[in-house]
Amino acid sequence: MCGISGIVHSENIGRNLFNSIRNLEYRGYDSCGMAMLSEGELDLRKNIGGIDEVNALEQLDKMQGSIGIAHTRWATHGSVTQENAHPHLSYKREFVIVHNGIISNYQELRERLMSQGVVFESLTDTEVFVNLLEESYAEHSDLEKSFLAALQQIEGSYSIVMLSAHDPEHLYCVKKESPLLLGLGEGCNYVGSDLNAFLEYTRQAIVLDDGEYVVLGRDDYQIRKVETGEIVKKSILHIDWDVETSKKGGYSHYMLKEIFDEPQTVRQALKIPTEQISGLAEMFREASRAYLMGVGTTFYVANISQYFFSTLADRYYPALSSDEFSVVTVESGDLVLALSQSGETYDTKTALQYAKTSGAKTAAVVNVMGSAISMMVDQVIMQGSGPEICVVSTKAALAQTFIMLRVALELGRMRDYLTQDVYQKHQQDLELFPEMVQQILNEQSGFVRNIARSTSHVEHWLFLGCGVYYPVAMESALKMKEVTYQHAEGMPAGFLKHGTLSMVEPALHSLFFVPLKEQKVLHDRTLIAMEQVKTRGGTVIGIMFQGDERALAVCDQAVQLPQMSALCAPLAQMIMAQMFAYYAALDLGRNIDKPRNLAKSVTVG
Ligand code: BG6
Repeated sequence: MCGISGIVHSENIGRNLFNSIRNLEYRGYDSCGMAMLSEGELDLRKNIGGIDEVNALEQLDKMQGSIGIAHTRWATHGSVTQENAHPHLSYKREFVIVHNGIISNYQELRERLMSQGVVFESLTDTEVFVNLLEESYAEHSDLEKSFLAALQQIEGSYSIVMLSAHDPEHLYCVKKESPLLLGLGEGCNYVGSDLNAFLEYTRQAIVLDDGEYVVLGRDDYQIRKVETGEIVKKSILHIDWDVETSKKGGYSHYMLKEIFDEPQTVRQALKIPTEQISGLAEMFREASRAYLMGVGTTFYVANISQYFFSTLADRYYPALSSDEFSVVTVESGDLVLALSQSGETYDTKTALQYAKTSGAKTAAVVNVMGSAISMMVDQVIMQGSGPEICVVSTKAALAQTFIMLRVALELGRMRDYLTQDVYQKHQQDLELFPEMVQQILNEQSGFVRNIARSTSHVEHWLFLGCGVYYPVAMESALKMKEVTYQHAEGMPAGFLKHGTLSMVEPALHSLFFVPLKEQKVLHDRTLIAMEQVKTRGGTVIGIMFQGDERALAVCDQAVQLPQMSALCAPLAQMIMAQMFAYYAALDLGRNIDKPRNLAKSVTVG
């Protein structure tokens, strides 16, 4: 997702345009740029890096003009380079655009234009459209007609804002599947990919719908349907969000927003091409030994992945914390897989460097495009979860877990460990999971919040699970510690009786991750541990599945999830525990998005 902004005024708006993309930086910060018209001259400046870095290089905030467009990029197609940054200029320099979305038929259009002698500067789909505009204008010499003619040729999802010296008074905007809104000011109008683009200047907004385009002037606007040209009347909304809140889409914290992003995050993980997933699975298959690696949350994702590989592909790959990785010897023929949201974590980078110098193959699952780790491995899977702003990882960790589940499934199929039927059944389970995530977020958040509020005073927790629910418990305990500052210890439920049980008393709360009843061995082992705690007067909280009367009878309080596939059940419990930690921290008044002492990515040793 990217940030788009445009302003049309009667006075110089360079500073305001710069501020507008600064307010959009959370949408992406690989690169950014601005284009403005001043006395008929087009000034375009763009570079890679965050807003402040690019401003130091390009002096964006010093640009002059009364009409301009701006963009901050979260790369999905085309690496992070200055050429690929937006805005994009047409080959005769008469049109400039910013774009959010994916023009799915850009390759064939690009080939046709190149065969006609058009020279491209970038590899992006966006540049294809701006050159189509140039081509259309040569034919129609009317800006609106050219805009519409070019739109007829493209497919996919896009919100586009265009600026041209042929009409220095108007911006041409179109919306299809990617968000685009208008902001109506006094003698000044705005367009943006979300409210943050202009909320500090006006609270009067119009939300555009798919297939609508706008010719936007400083004190006039015309909204029409792309297909028919008919004028569209839209209601004007008064937005009463404060600027800070609106960056979080109305959620009170990024953490909650990013948890509620999870249905979409899983959909994105499902869209990763199968050839990428099987490419990584093939690397595992060819490796004589393989290791899974990460730190903090990603270490626990590696642990959860360990269980996926052993149950779905009959392969055991040790999970190691990056900071401890040097403890193993690595040699050529081995594979080391790193998990990292930021792609910049020092410990993980160092461990990968050690693996490479030892001759091992390396791979990674990463969220931030152009990050060091994504560039240093033999194969990278970009998870495409969008910017994760909250320091504690939720949606990125879930996506990584889901991706590793896909890889383990692929490996199981490749090794004929899974029959085709079982493999197909599991693939269907994965396809259904985004809807299941949406359902449990909608249905369960109230129950989770009640339990969290009634127990937020608890200072000592045990988080317990069996089998794959054990690393889920570990990751959830970390989440609890990170965001509430209360102590939580994750461990295998079966381990409890060997020592830790001595701690059990009413004040000590135990949160159990209870498997589906159909997971009989894991379920029975978990129930035994729950009853051990209960009989010794400990307080038992359960995250379980509906219809589990035996588990419910042991719990003081319980979250009861709908029945679902055993494959995805642990991921659903992980989400509930993220939400539990969030509401406990909320009740405690913690600095949820920036917990004390922590950093989003520890890039030092
Ligand atoms: C820690 C973060 O600093 O780094 C954790 O607070 C994160 O949330 C860990 O899991 C690893 O970061 P990354 O970017 O390598 O996944």
